[in-house]
Amino acid sequence: MSYTDPIHFDFTGRTAVITGAASGIGKLSAERFGEMGANVVLTDINAEGIEAVAAEIRAKGGKAIAAPADLREYAQVESVRNAAMETFGRIDFLINCAGGSSGRINHVTEPFRSWPIEALDWSLEVNLRGPMYMTRACIGDMIDGGNGGVILYLGSAVGSRGGDGGSADYATTKAGLMFGMTKSMAQYGAPYNIRCNAVSPGPVLTRENMANTPTLLGRAAEPIEIVNLITYLCSDQASFITGSNYAIDAGRACQHR
Ligand SMILES: NC(=O)c1ccc[n+]([C@@H]2O[C@H](COP(=O)([O-])OP(=O)(O)OC[C@H]3O[C@@H](n4cnc5c(N)ncnc54)[C@H](O)[C@@H]3O)[C@@H](O)[C@H]2O)c1
Repeated sequence: MSYTDPIHFDFTGRTAVITGAASGIGKLSAERFGEMGANVVLTDINAEGIEAVAAEIRAKGGKAIAAPADLREYAQVESVRNAAMETFGRIDFLINCAGGSSGRINHVTEPFRSWPIEALDWSLEVNLRGPMYMTRACIGDMIDGGNGGVILYLGSAVGSRGGDGGSADYATTKAGLMFGMTKSMAQYGAPYNIRCNAVSPGPVLTRENMANTPTLLGRAAEPIEIVNLITYLCSDQASFITGSNYAIDAGRACQHR
């Protein structure tokens, strides 16, 4: 068995709501959860992207719907929750993958003292407010369903080590998810057997240039390595794990540079 082999659990009958499902870790998570029998609700601001992934899951015999949304807007977030409940009648897993470094996505080259305010707002809104909105929209149904469940946030090694001036926004929003949201929802969900954890990668090869980021092990992760941890944390085998931040970063968070 190699580290790029997917691990497998039977998620038949469970529903996974996955954000950022048009691309990268979210897309691969959606594909894998579809293969493992879950009902998959894919959401992303990229409607065409999730339609294509959902169609591919269905073509392989899986169950999937696309529910496009800009996670910065609560009404759109609520429509994702509505689509999940109307189609599948339950929510078991909420996997928050949408997000990214605003400096990279919005092509910011200025030092932090001159950052465009819109670029800072983008980060707060997509990386932090979006997952908080998604959690607010879905956790009531998870509680009422009485089946327990799992909420996962995608953090980052940058959330632990800081992001200097170039990604202070990213470090701050990810730290908010990794610690504040994860621990709060672990406490809130525990009486209902809803577990909440964060998965915090170092560089992942969802983009080729991530191979240039140093790690102690001298390489970046294949996306399946991250998705395998997501899969495990959603499984019943992880039933004693809640309130934790899982670094999966080849030691990146403990490097000085
Ligand atoms: N790739 C890495 O090296 C790495 C490292 C650490 C953490 N992470 C985190 O893991 C997660 C996934 O990373 P990835 O590389 O797979 O990302 P990605 O860029 O491939 O995908 C992110 C998705 O989020 C969607 N999105 C952006 N804004 C949105 C909005 N307003 N509403 C809804 N969807 C929106 C995008 O359309 C895209 O499909 C992110 O949260 C990222 O911060 C990634």
